[in-house]
Amino acid sequence: MPLVFQLIALCFLFAFASSMPIETPVSSPETESPILLPAPERCGQQDWNGVKGTLRSLVLDDSKHARWPARLLRAGFHDCYEGSCDGSLAHELNRPENRNIDVTIDLLRSSIRGTCVSLADAIKIGLELSMELMGAPELVCPKGTVDAEKAGPTGEIPTLFQGAATILGNFRGKGFTVEEAQAGNFGGHSVGGFGGRLFTPTVARYGNEFAKFMTQPFSNATGFNALPSDRTLLEADTSGHIQSFADDRAALDKAFGSFMLKLCSMSRD
Ligand code: HEM
Repeated sequence: MPLVFQLIALCFLFAFASSMPIETPVSSPETESPILLPAPERCGQQDWNGVKGTLRSLVLDDSKHARWPARLLRAGFHDCYEGSCDGSLAHELNRPENRNIDVTIDLLRSSIRGTCVSLADAIKIGLELSMELMGAPELVCPKGTVDAEKAGPTGEIPTLFQGAATILGNFRGKGFTVEEAQAGNFGGHSVGGFGGRLFTPTVARYGNEFAKFMTQPFSNATGFNALPSDRTLLEADTSGHIQSFADDRAALDKAFGSFMLKLCSMSRD
């Protein structure tokens, strides 16, 4: 072939080759996908404040945000009260006493996605945020808890139809005074509700209205609902703790704050 044709053929070949896409190494999805839960060895300082900020945004962005302080409070009570705030609640969602708590666990999991914070700590952060959003005393829980790998013991959470002696004995066995137990119940049930009925008309605001309602001799207050356990605890309140919460919001704040701190400090370590 004459040299001029050879040169033209070479130019075509070159032009064709340079128009081909340059092949890059195919990345494996396993190595390239974003890491959602960093491996523990990569975790440094755990950003508990960051998680609280995320959780606050998730709650406030929800059109039903008024329900969240009560949901977070109930979830924290049920996780910690079994003896340790260790996230074992996530393995117990099919227990009857944990009805509807799955939505709270889902929200808490969203708040820690991409962080090194455990679900156990997120539940405690949820308790702190609940106290803040509902206007209860400030709460700071100890953190750094590793998640439980299995469910906790059954039969620890008090039930609706237990007598006061059983309920208060249960709380005393876990290190709470009778006053703290009564404050836990009457402060806790000052927000949220059950079966579509609210305990008080103020779904998201903590206060002593529930204690006031319960201690009125003939109440014609509308919008208040009590559980059988609330009534039996009132009947057994020979020391007048609930009456003192009704008369003095500061007394409820003090005992409820103390109850919550003991609750979120529960640990088997
Ligand atoms: C004698 C002890 C207690 C009993 C028997 C009890 C029982 C219950 C029951 C049956 C419900 C309704 C749950 C449902 O809708 O299925 C409820 C709701 C609730 N409990 Fe208790 N509870 C007790 C103590 C506490 C304590 C100590 C706290 C927190 C400090 C608490 C916080 C709440 C909250 C915030 C709700 C409302 C949840 C919501 O609206 O999403 N409870 N409780």
